[in-house]
Amino acid sequence: MGENDANITFFKDGLRLDGRRADELRPLKIEVGILARADGSCYIEMGGNKVIAAVYGPREVHPRHLQEVTRAIVRYRYNMASFSVEERKRPGPDRRSYELSKVSREALEPVILTSYFPRSVIDVFVEVLQADAGTRTAGINAASVALADAGIPMKSMISSCAAGKVGGQLVLDPMKEEDNYGEADMPIAMTPDGRITLLQMDGHMTREELKTALDMAMGGCRQVYEVQRKALIDKYNQMEAEIIPDQEQPQEAEVL
Ligand code: CDP
Repeated sequence: MGENDANITFFKDGLRLDGRRADELRPLKIEVGILARADGSCYIEMGGNKVIAAVYGPREVHPRHLQEVTRAIVRYRYNMASFSVEERKRPGPDRRSYELSKVSREALEPVILTSYFPRSVIDVFVEVLQADAGTRTAGINAASVALADAGIPMKSMISSCAAGKVGGQLVLDPMKEEDNYGEADMPIAMTPDGRITLLQMDGHMTREELKTALDMAMGGCRQVYEVQRKALIDKYNQMEAEIIPDQEQPQEAEVL
């Protein structure tokens, strides 16, 4: 962020390096229920980001001293695979992954009805397989879908995306070059009715730019929500079709 000594031209003929308009999301693909052993799971592609989320629980808390008598605790582990970035990442947790785990958990916790499951834990694992900026937002989107897939009662879904400033212009959903060499990056997460559960900013923007960027990011979250919703509906439609197959045609009597 803010290392624009690379002198990158971020726009060509009014379009971004990857051909997007300033207010356009990267291509978004969501698949629900991809892991057989998790209670809920999701695979997401947000542009070049490829992320898996797995949810387990509500289940017994280990170690037991962490349990809360009035509610379930939520644990969120964000992990980046060594091969997910250009320069091999050292395996295991680091300062960045602790921070991202914490803010992502806090982005989801307000909508989870934890009081339904006292003394238990809901575990969310997010594995980044390929990173291209915005992995925390992709992880939160996948985790929200995986929580719903696990049947965890929630007040609503959470959708996330970032807005940024590059070459003096505001852009939606910055990709790696924009994130690395741009002036600002602001990831947010929100409920479909616009309640913000995550708001971070790296870099500098004016007050006016901040307002516009927030509107832009909120518009992006609304688009993400539609894709999350459709992915969940598609999965349950498919399950229904498998359980109640179309009326079978009467079989012809066998000629002996
Ligand atoms: O991924 P996100 O934007 O949520 O977090 P970030 O800390 O702003 O990282 C931005 C991007 O930098 C990541 O998505 C990766 O593409 C890249 N990165 C990297 O190449 N190596 C790392 N150890 C960490 C991040």
